[in-house]
Amino acid sequence: MGSRKPLIAGNWKMFGRGADLAEIGALAETIGAAASKIDVLICPPAVFVAPAAWQTRDKPILIGGQDCSPNAADAARTGEVSAAMLADVGATYVIVGHSERRQNHKESDDLVRQKAEAAMAAGVTPIVCVGETQAERAAGQVAEVVGRQVKGSVPAQGAFVVAYEPVWAIGGNSTPTLAEIAEVHALIRETLAGQFGAQANETRILYGGSVGPKNAGEIFTVEGVDGALVGRASLKAADFSAIILGHPAAV
Ligand code: 13P
Repeated sequence: MGSRKPLIAGNWKMFGRGADLAEIGALAETIGAAASKIDVLICPPAVFVAPAAWQTRDKPILIGGQDCSPNAADAARTGEVSAAMLADVGATYVIVGHSERRQNHKESDDLVRQKAEAAMAAGVTPIVCVGETQAERAAGQVAEVVGRQVKGSVPAQGAFVVAYEPVWAIGGNSTPTLAEIAEVHALIRETLAGQFGAQANETRILYGGSVGPKNAGEIFTVEGVDGALVGRASLKAADFSAIILGHPAAV
């Protein structure tokens, strides 16, 4: 076992307005000392990354982006935000390869890996998302799909985070069983070990998909789960802090 500090990350997706940044201040108040034992991260929409990072500059809450350009260097790429720009305004993490981007923007494993590498080049830690669809699970292809995504999407070296987010568990009410989560997390670590050897023990693997105050506690007890990537339940400080304070490391 490596010594992996838990990471609980909130992905606001395309929700929120400037006024909702107050939730981040409220979160900092509520989680108190737990923030020294758990890395707490909020990934707001791109336009709010700078004000969120400014607001948390003296608070134990990290700020990240939800996506970045695969281009490391400044370039003529209308609409894109580079990892260097995220870093410049205070972001320390960036989500890459979320299933909503893989599906809606046809992002391939190769593109996701380029984004992860661009992030690392800018000193921003990528959170690389992987996960099977309902049809792939039904067809018994979880190991094949997730294994392929991990091999194809993670950067060639360096410190990154992997998030296992079964597509069918996102935005609904169902999650895999605890045994199924354990199985896929083990598979991801095995795959990483094949690529990186013992260093795979240092990589944090998060679970994401319908994590909320009610089920987070039991999910955090699953072997190989180093934290969570939370969507809806990260938007309100009351819900997100309940998730964080429910982590065994918080007490
Ligand atoms: P929900 O927590 O809303 O299911 O979203 C999960 C997710 O996609 C986080 O990236």
